[in-house]
Amino acid sequence: MTMFSLRIPCLTLVLALWASLGSSGAQFHPQVPAQYLPLPSLRQRASIQDDWTADRIANIPFLLHKYRAQAWLLVQREHAEDTIWWSVKNSTDFDAHRRTILLFHGNQSSLNGAPNPLKWIDNTGQVWPELLSTLSKLNPERIILNVDENIAFAGGLHVGEFEVLQRELGQQWMQRTINEPMLAIEFVATKLPRQFVYYHQMQEMVWAMLEEGFSHRAVQPGITNTQDLTWWFREKMQVLNVTTWNQPRISVVTEDTYPGWQGSEGIIQEGDILHIDFGITAMHLNTDTQHLAYVLRTSGEDAETDAPESLKEGLRKSNRMQDIVLDNMKPGLTGNTVLRRSLDQMEAEGIEGQIYCHPIGDWGHDAGTVMGFVNLPEYVPVLGELPILPKTYYSIELYAYHFVPERNVTLRFLQEENVAWSEELQGWKFVYGRQEKFHLVDSRRSIITFSDQTNL
Ligand SMILES: *[C@@H]1O[C@H](CO)[C@@H](O)[C@H](O)[C@H]1NC(C)=O
Ligand SMILES: *[C@@H]1O[C@H](CO)[C@@H](O)[C@H](O)[C@H]1NC(C)=O
Ligand SMILES: *[C@@H]1O[C@H](CO)[C@@H](O)[C@H](O)[C@H]1NC(C)=O
Ligand SMILES: *[C@@H]1O[C@H](CO)[C@@H](O)[C@H](O)[C@H]1NC(C)=O
Repeated sequence: MTMFSLRIPCLTLVLALWASLGSSGAQFHPQVPAQYLPLPSLRQRASIQDDWTADRIANIPFLLHKYRAQAWLLVQREHAEDTIWWSVKNSTDFDAHRRTILLFHGNQSSLNGAPNPLKWIDNTGQVWPELLSTLSKLNPERIILNVDENIAFAGGLHVGEFEVLQRELGQQWMQRTINEPMLAIEFVATKLPRQFVYYHQMQEMVWAMLEEGFSHRAVQPGITNTQDLTWWFREKMQVLNVTTWNQPRISVVTEDTYPGWQGSEGIIQEGDILHIDFGITAMHLNTDTQHLAYVLRTSGEDAETDAPESLKEGLRKSNRMQDIVLDNMKPGLTGNTVLRRSLDQMEAEGIEGQIYCHPIGDWGHDAGTVMGFVNLPEYVPVLGELPILPKTYYSIELYAYHFVPERNVTLRFLQEENVAWSEELQGWKFVYGRQEKFHLVDSRRSIITFSDQTNL
């Protein structure tokens, strides 16, 4: 065809490459304000989510094959659901009913194309002979049960259900049951490429909330306190039609501000450093973000237009730690290896701080390995020994220590950003961006009335 018709795909390709580099190679603080883009209606969300769930479930036979098992059996009752239930249920289900049994199987042909999973809802006991007869047809040599002692995603079988199972299945089948936590972990951790579009939109919403909440539109120095601002975030979620998986924690940063801190109480003043740790929930996805803000001094000789250089330097150290962790996060390595290498690199560069990163997605603290815990800064037994999986999301949570001479204190510069695996880059990219500059509260900008105060 003509040159012209060839040029369009070329241009598209270039733009796509540029876009992928822009959002990853050079990690950045977005230059334009984030937008509140409405999520689809509840009805549309339900069908989108069910479409994702169907694809994720369709992957289970491959996972069974990978972990050398032929069946995965989930047994649960209403209000005592297996952890996995929440990742396989239909969007319009809010509980498992009665006793719900799900049997995922790896061999479609042995059951004449029966659905996968097979599902029974029972309160008469009739399910047991049917399950036994299905197992006879399927003849699985290894049946995974969610009985792991350490990993919640692989340990959701309630003890009463386990006892009933032992009695009803008998020795013949019970001796074929195994614990293989990686199956559940990989199932929950693996995200579909098309989920990213909505995850990105949620992250943009988070940034828009941060840009508004950490500004004169929600903070009036000398009047607003940290609890007012906390509830401003909660109310904002309500307006945006999203929920959360933990109460936002906001504090005025002092040398006592440590990770997991419950937030401080007190009136926000000019010259304060603010910290928030919060996440939103929608479409069975969760976010988790920590940012810093600075409340500008607005009068007299001390009047400022930007955060002090010493604070910017502290944030740069945290940004450098994010780079170090992401460079080390190679799929297949254990979380502990990534942690060790990252701590060594920090030491080589003279950065002090702590790393405690976790997977995120279906849950705020999702399935998979971790790099550190707040109380386990150098090595995490069990969870830290699992491999990093690709095709998933992580929350890069850490802080650098930095001495701030004007205050004569060493502060923790707490940061948390969510990253997603990128097939093109074979590496991780920030879902929306990362904080490289302080959000600024500038009370000179609220000249008119404090009109956004309705929620405070
Ligand atoms: C929230 O939902 C309501 C009711 O469907 C809708 O009118 C409103 O536009 C939604 N808001 C956002 C920000 O999505
Ligand atoms: C979801 O709904 C479909 C269609 O009604 C049904 O076949 C399937 O068993 C449901 N899945 C679960 C986990 O209940
Ligand atoms: C699946 O089941 C069919 C019929 O029972 C059997 O012939 C076949 O070998 C099985 N395949 C695998 C991979 O187990
Ligand atoms: C700075 O803090 C240290 C330790 O808390 C204290 O010994 C020192 O006197 C302080 N310096 C100034 C100038 O206040």
